[in-house]
Amino acid sequence: MAAATTGNSIASPIRIAVIVSTTRKPRACPQIAKFTLDTISTLSPSTAAKPYELHTLDLLDHPLPFHDEPAVPSQIDDPAKYVHEHTRAWCAVISSFDAFVFVTPQYNWGYPAVLKNAIDYLYNEWKGKPAMVVSYGGHGGGKSNAQLREVLGGVRMDVVEKGVELAFAGRQGTVIASQGRDMGLDGKSGEGLWSDKRGEISEAFEQMLGKCGKSGGK
Ligand SMILES: Cc1cc2nc3c(=O)[nH]c(=O)nc-3n(C[C@H](O)[C@H](O)[C@H](O)COP(=O)(O)O)c2cc1C
Repeated sequence: MAAATTGNSIASPIRIAVIVSTTRKPRACPQIAKFTLDTISTLSPSTAAKPYELHTLDLLDHPLPFHDEPAVPSQIDDPAKYVHEHTRAWCAVISSFDAFVFVTPQYNWGYPAVLKNAIDYLYNEWKGKPAMVVSYGGHGGGKSNAQLREVLGGVRMDVVEKGVELAFAGRQGTVIASQGRDMGLDGKSGEGLWSDKRGEISEAFEQMLGKCGKSGGK
C-alpha cells in the first residue's frame, strides 16, 4: 500500500483506502483505481483543515479463503476472538483505515465475489466508517454500484448516496479493459477517457470526506 497524498498539518491525517476489487489476471481495476486516486489527489487535495492520506488497497495482496470463521462477525468484539490468522490480519488492515473508496467492475450484474467475501469476514471494522463507490462496465456498472452500496449499508457504513459510474467506450473499450490493456486514463491532467467524470468523482469524495469525523469514523 503506497501513500499518495499527505497533508502537512499536525492533526493526524484521515487514512483512506482506495480498494482494488478484482483479482483476475489480467484486469483493468488497478488502472481505474489509480485514475480515481489521481483524480481525487488533483481535484480535492489534502488540506491543513482536513488532512488525509490516500492508500491503494489491492485485494490481490490480501488473499482470503471463502469465509471460514465459526462466529458471526457482528458478534466479534475483540479481534483475539477470530479463530484464523488470516482474519486477524485482514481485521488489522481494515481497522487501520478511516474511510474507503470502493472501485468495482460489474460482473454478471453484480460486484465481484472476492469483494463480497472480503466484506463478509468483518463487521465492526467497517461499521460507522464513510464509503463511496466507483463502478465501471459496458454501461457504467450501475447494478453493481447499487448492490454494493446496499451491502455496505448492511455493515452499517456511512455510504455516499450517489455512486459514480464509468462506462467503457463501446464494445472495443470493454475488450481493452478486459485484457488489462492501457485504457488511456489520466486522473491528473484532465485529458483522456473519463475526463468528464473527474468532477463527479471529486464531488463524491468531498461528500465522503465531510462524513469523516462523524459517526463511528475518526
Ligand atoms: C465474470 C465477468 C462478468 C462480467 N459481467 C459484466 C456485466 O455484467 N456487465 C458489464 O458491463 N461488463 C461485464 N464484464 C466485463 C467487465 O466489465 C470487464 O471485463 C472489466 O475489465 C472487468 O474488470 P477487471 O478487468 O478489473 O476484472 C464481465 C467480466 C467478467 C470477467
